[in-house]
Amino acid sequence: MLNHNMQHNWHPLKGQPLTEMDKRILAFQNRGKLCPTRDLIKTPEQIEGIRRAGVLNTAVLDMVAENIHAGMSTEDINQLVHNFTIEHGGTPAPLNYEGFPKSVCVSINDVVCHGIPAPDEILQEGDIVNVDTTTILDGFYADASRMFIIGRTTPEKERLVRVAKECLEVGMKEARPYCFVGDIGHAIAHHAHKNGFTIVRDLCGHGTGNHFHEEPDVEHYGRKGTGMLLVPGMVFTIEPMVNMGDWRVVVDEEDGWQVYTEDYKPSAQWEHTFLMTENGLEILTQ
Ligand code: MF3
Ligand code: CO
Ligand code: CO
Repeated sequence: MLNHNMQHNWHPLKGQPLTEMDKRILAFQNRGKLCPTRDLIKTPEQIEGIRRAGVLNTAVLDMVAENIHAGMSTEDINQLVHNFTIEHGGTPAPLNYEGFPKSVCVSINDVVCHGIPAPDEILQEGDIVNVDTTTILDGFYADASRMFIIGRTTPEKERLVRVAKECLEVGMKEARPYCFVGDIGHAIAHHAHKNGFTIVRDLCGHGTGNHFHEEPDVEHYGRKGTGMLLVPGMVFTIEPMVNMGDWRVVVDEEDGWQVYTEDYKPSAQWEHTFLMTENGLEILTQ
């Protein structure tokens, strides 16, 4: 039986001289670090496909930004996202994904993520709302989410939304080629805690592009130098969920999807899909 690390071994291509990348990865691997498998490094053609999926996914979120308002239902957002995506040749990835019943996740206030749109759920003045869209185009995936403030909200909820965005930016800046997932998580958690907020631990970012969710897990907390080594050509999300109160969450027992804060205090999240390049991260969902 292979252990976890064996499965993650980096193998140079047989019969070919070691590349610079092989040498760098093998050096980490020999020190016991978790390294990517070759299939996590995208080809130029795959990157082009994911880039195009990213452009469409951004158009979907821009369309939501133009239309979101108090008084509409989360099901209205679902219809808008579904129709717009199809009209532009894409497929909304959430629909029927592991049984998810809708084309977008809409998560209001104390809903951390995976909010299921419903006709009787009406956006109210003062709500903070995460809209998370994932678009499939020609078989490639791009995943991103934004927060929307409905009308005016409290200064504290406004600050939560801002700090959550900063957490994504801090993580993004920390990510360099041949860094570790834990370097990103460490920086993100530090920024959240510095501002008096907490980081959700039960959900994480993820590799994406060829499938909805791939390796590695991208945790938004942790120790530097832990987690998977990140090398050029890898595509993954960073999507910190930042809570105003306690970090603990509960999953809705009835629907098995919607994630709430345990203390019913609000939560905020922003997400992008990134490509690791020789110079750091490129946002594919800008
Ligand atoms: N878009 C979410 C993420 O960022 C995943 C949603 S799964 C779904 O990973 F089924 F709820 F859509
Ligand atoms: Co994601
Ligand atoms: Co998402």
